[in-house]
Amino acid sequence: MSKTIYILNGPNLNLLGKRQPEIYGHETLTDVEAACRAVGDANGLGLRFHQSNREYELIDWIHEAREDGAGIIINPAAFSHTSVAVLDALNTFDGPVLEVHVSNIHKREAFRHHSYVSQRAEGVIAGFGAQGYALAMQRMAALLAE
Ligand code: DQA
Repeated sequence: MSKTIYILNGPNLNLLGKRQPEIYGHETLTDVEAACRAVGDANGLGLRFHQSNREYELIDWIHEAREDGAGIIINPAAFSHTSVAVLDALNTFDGPVLEVHVSNIHKREAFRHHSYVSQRAEGVIAGFGAQGYALAMQRMAALLAE
């Protein structure tokens, strides 16, 4: 049975490609999912790909990953900077967690420089555009092969 990776996306990322393209680029979340599935297929990894504007839904998916997820890739979006609850949920998960930000949060407003989730993440990718997700998938494949 192939391992399953959860790719979770927080608020406003449903508008990726339309929202502030000068910051977040033109690729959509559908493009991101296709790119991640290609890496998954090449590495024998299945995907659960989700987006929500609601904190509790992200938390519920993290709990679901406890049952059948081998790893989590998460772009918590604005919840990165606010949510102890998402961090607490991730701390209940045993596998690797990778954090992705489309933009370089360290180059932006000071309130984006701190992420609660980074305290749990094995690694963080920021500022690589939508490509960051596929890079995170490659890293996830390597971590799970170790
Ligand atoms: C983001 C960066 C966050 O600061 C912001 O709130 C987002 C998206 C990114 O992918 O660059 O919504 O996580």
